[in-house]
Amino acid sequence: MKFPIFAALRPAAALIALSIATAAGRLSAASSTAPVAVPPPPPQSPNQNAQGFGAPVAGLNITLSADFVDGQDEFKIVRTPATGLGPIYNNVSCEACHNRPTVGGWGTITTTRFGRTASNGTFDPLTQQDGSLLHAYTTIAALQETLPPDANTTAKRLTTPLYGAGLIDAIPDETIEANQTIPKPPGISGRAAMVPDVTAGVDRVGRFGWKAQHASIVVFVGDAFNSEMGITNQVYPAPHAPDGNTTLFDELAPDLTGIKDSVDPVTGLSGVQMLDRYLLGLAPPGRGRATAHSARGGQVFATIGCAACHIPSMQTGPSPIAALSNQNVPLFSDLLIHDMGSLGDGIAQGDAGPREMRTSPLWGLRTRTVFLHDGRAVTLNEAILDHDGEAAGTRESYSKLGGADREALMEFLNTL
Ligand code: HEC
Ligand code: HEC
Repeated sequence: MKFPIFAALRPAAALIALSIATAAGRLSAASSTAPVAVPPPPPQSPNQNAQGFGAPVAGLNITLSADFVDGQDEFKIVRTPATGLGPIYNNVSCEACHNRPTVGGWGTITTTRFGRTASNGTFDPLTQQDGSLLHAYTTIAALQETLPPDANTTAKRLTTPLYGAGLIDAIPDETIEANQTIPKPPGISGRAAMVPDVTAGVDRVGRFGWKAQHASIVVFVGDAFNSEMGITNQVYPAPHAPDGNTTLFDELAPDLTGIKDSVDPVTGLSGVQMLDRYLLGLAPPGRGRATAHSARGGQVFATIGCAACHIPSMQTGPSPIAALSNQNVPLFSDLLIHDMGSLGDGIAQGDAGPREMRTSPLWGLRTRTVFLHDGRAVTLNEAILDHDGEAAGTRESYSKLGGADREALMEFLNTL
């Protein structure tokens, strides 16, 4: 328990207020018509499409092929309070957010990060108040989380696509670190984010998430299962208490404090392990068809400096999964974090400071209709013009492009 003397420190009035809230909470929790907000129903999306999005990577062995299918089912299961949802959460299934153009893809849903930025720029994630991720929904009305009054910084985060995650997982730390020393145009640097890998107990190079906040799929999955859905698990066993109020949580949800993820008797795998196997096997986006000017656009992409951060490819190292071993990964990212100036989201997370963002992988870009960490851009032109900080020089070169070069660049981007 985080606040063992919580009650003793409270003035009487607050204690009364707390007990009223508690009673109301019990009442609404017991009532079947509890006035809790629920997320909009998830869209129906196909498991895979004709362009190969959502398919398993070629060459998975029989066991991993079966695990892929089981893991995909796990990814789609709609949870209810009876099957572990909540009490505070952001959506009912992984698919509810990751669904475009297929299961496992990107999505238009954003989550909210918050914290407090001091006058000297230092960021406080307000961990004591369950920062920095806001939980928008609850299964018990009295546990509804709200933005703490201390929060003066918020940022939306768009749901990222998961295609090819297994290949990104299999890139050795040293390969990403080596991108730091590749010669780059003036003003562009980038650094590897060193983040704790809670399964390995060591720091590793982060590569997943807008801030490169996690180093492996299994850690991200454990975090997402717990933080987005409330399913505590072996990787992230501690439940989130609303606004950090562990006393209220213990009082209203005393039966929800243990680990909820369990081993499936048929597969012998936990939910986290099944989701990990699914994402390890999820094929990378294939390239779209070349057009008349897309090759020229690729040259423009390199010449004006886009490729200094969105480097076309990296290699995986040896992997126990043959299909992921020593493979080319055409992701169009260096997986480094860069000071993006005014495009930074103001949140410090993992090793990334408030202005630092991971170079977004651009593979699969042709399926997207909104761009950047908060989905603010609805055209590629807007997304590029919002680049700042280390990318300011490249943005200026882009602005000066002649019409033909600019069109060629767009044709190229639309083949990704
Ligand atoms: C409420 C919507 C929501 C739900 C539910 C959700 N995600 Fe996500 N997911 C996101 C967002 C938003 C991001 C980007 C997060 C960030 O970087 O801040 C993300 C990122 C990820 C990433 C990192 C990908 C990358 O860009 O490198 C993985 C892996 C992931 N999610 C897996 C899952 C799994 C597995 C589940 C189910 C247990 C899940 N997500 C449920 C919204 C969601
Ligand atoms: C200094 C490194 C850097 C350079 C140079 C750079 N980018 Fe980016 N790019 C990023 C980062 C970091 C992001 C994520 C920013 C965010 O959303 O906060 C990004 C995001 C994007 C996105 C949106 C992707 C998504 O998932 O929403 C597109 C499109 C893009 N870049 C294209 C380009 C193009 C085209 C160029 C050249 C004109 C370019 N970038 C130059 C680092 C760079």
